[in-house]
Amino acid sequence: MIKQETVDKILDAARIEEVVGDFVDLKKRGTSLIGLCPFHNEKTPSFNVSVSKGIYKCFGCGAGGDSVRFVMEHEKYSYPEALRYLAGKYHIAVEETERTPEQLAAQDRRESLFIVTGWAGRFFSGSMWDTGEGQTVGLNYFRERGYRDDIIRKFELGYSPEAWTALYDQAKTAGYKDEFLEATGLVIRKDDGGVYDRFRGRVIFPIHNLTGRVLGFGGRILKTDKKAAKYVNSPESEIYHKSDVLYGLYFAKKAIVEADHCYLVEGYADVISMHQAGVENVVASSGTSLTTGQIRLISRYTSNVTILYDGDAAGIKASLRGTDMLLEEGMNVKVLLFPDGNDPDSYVQQFGSAAFTQYIATHRQDFIAYKTQVLLRDAGNDPVRRAEVIHDVVASIALIPDAIKASVFIRECSTLLDMEERILIAELNKIRIGHAKKRPREPAAEERPPSAVYPEAFPATEPIPDSGVNSILLQEREIIRILLNYGSQPAAWEADGDIPVAPLLLSGLHDVVFEDPACMTIIDTYKAHITRNELPGERVFVGHADRAVADLAVELLSMKYSLSPNWNDEKRKIYVSHESERLEDLVYHAIFRIKKKKVEQQLGQLREAMKEETDPTQLAALMGNYQKIKEVSKLIAEKLGTIVIK
Ligand code: CTP
Ligand code: MN
Repeated sequence: MIKQETVDKILDAARIEEVVGDFVDLKKRGTSLIGLCPFHNEKTPSFNVSVSKGIYKCFGCGAGGDSVRFVMEHEKYSYPEALRYLAGKYHIAVEETERTPEQLAAQDRRESLFIVTGWAGRFFSGSMWDTGEGQTVGLNYFRERGYRDDIIRKFELGYSPEAWTALYDQAKTAGYKDEFLEATGLVIRKDDGGVYDRFRGRVIFPIHNLTGRVLGFGGRILKTDKKAAKYVNSPESEIYHKSDVLYGLYFAKKAIVEADHCYLVEGYADVISMHQAGVENVVASSGTSLTTGQIRLISRYTSNVTILYDGDAAGIKASLRGTDMLLEEGMNVKVLLFPDGNDPDSYVQQFGSAAFTQYIATHRQDFIAYKTQVLLRDAGNDPVRRAEVIHDVVASIALIPDAIKASVFIRECSTLLDMEERILIAELNKIRIGHAKKRPREPAAEERPPSAVYPEAFPATEPIPDSGVNSILLQEREIIRILLNYGSQPAAWEADGDIPVAPLLLSGLHDVVFEDPACMTIIDTYKAHITRNELPGERVFVGHADRAVADLAVELLSMKYSLSPNWNDEKRKIYVSHESERLEDLVYHAIFRIKKKKVEQQLGQLREAMKEETDPTQLAALMGNYQKIKEVSKLIAEKLGTIVIK
């Protein structure tokens, strides 16, 4: 771990214009710097760098963040890697937190395990290339499957001899400890104390980490009969966490970045055959169902994924599940199924690489078309089941964190299903609010909640029927925008003129519950700081571990206009610089607007409840409540009426 002191030094030293300037040609325009965005193709610059706020933001593709984020995204670095890069640039010595003896021992132990698996990998390939048994059984098997020798060598494929303790005996001769052989699962200890090799008489696929070191192995059986499992795999170990490993990523990562695209397949054989066919941007989840950890690995290199699965029932099921998980992580997903009973390996071996790439090009579908088609096929003409399909498809769209993308899919879905767009949007909002309610108040840092339904995703030409949801989230974001941009400015109009805007605004909102998880996090952070008599800096949010929070902060900090939907176009053009001169209006307007929306929402819910309620006493209670809230709503409306928007 890098010491917090060092992190602070790095963040203090890193100047956004210098960090970005190493990669992007920046020109001064007005108060900010502008250049061609390195994250998407563009001819006219929409990539902005704000020196004062320390952030970049592309108004074309939406990329944005602080210096660290820029380096992470541009260089495909992890957080610590990006910090080290910046430390190097600014000649800052990186101090690590001191390691305890236990941590050092664990480090040594991991290293020992890696040494053992590395040795075992060489043992398996040696057993294949250099022994009679290995050549006739193992090497022949691969060659008969159509693998070229250079590919067999590249993937370090091997063979485990039939004998019960072939590996174990050699390991002992070479001086490796039982402890490490067992911990990596290479040998298994029996109850009577004896040991035997896990892999026997199988061809071996070593599994590599991102730097090419061997973590574990998959061993495929050679005979076709047998009730024995087709594959035996290394167990989980201190170095092999299956949910965070993708087979082939080490060999694929460069090609994935170059193609800005990754193929996701099911098996070892698929990865290898595709490489041989010249398609190298491919990884496999290897039998385990796809995990979030695996998707995040891919997302370090690209956000475009095509799922290539077998077209059988299991493959379809896996593809639908995988699609939803990928969407949730913000990936762009396409799907392609091979004819039932074929997988990428069998297809490419049977028809050759030209036919294979041709097949992919003509058969891949975006997830909406795919899912709609698959589900509608099952639903037939049954109207109830068709309605379920619509719900299902919209539920997938609701997982997409980027609202602009979601709105594009809603449009496509509306065409495909021949449904009015606004009905689909209403359905989408309902599902999203369901998600927001279900979410715990403080989502774990690694969990990325879907961000709110952003109003700008739904162009003004298509007014959304007032489900109320959009305008509430819009108001929540407006509050956050004011906090981030003006929170530390003095509320000069108050009798106690020293009080900053943030505590004033928040005390006015003590009875308002925020729905959007990212907004909620920001509000809670403000509250925590204010109780300590301080205010959080922008850095806390733009560098937040929760991407949804960081993205929201960057977006709102770089927003030129107020979010208030009530403003007509003329007023929308008011720049932030003017806005700061009418802070009082801005603050009170925001407070009462969000309250008005929340109250309207409550009233709506009560009306619904009253419609359903049959018990007269319950109904009377509901009506009483309704009247009370109606009063509150009138008061708020009066307040709002007295605030003149200049
Ligand atoms: N798998 C496994 N254990 C099994 C079956 C499968 O671990 N008993 C994993 C392997 O990683 C395998 C993947 O699931 O690569 C996909 O399974 P499958 O399609 O059956 O295997 P293929 O890789 O296609 O193997 P082959 O073409 O050699 O039959
Ligand atoms: Mn196969």
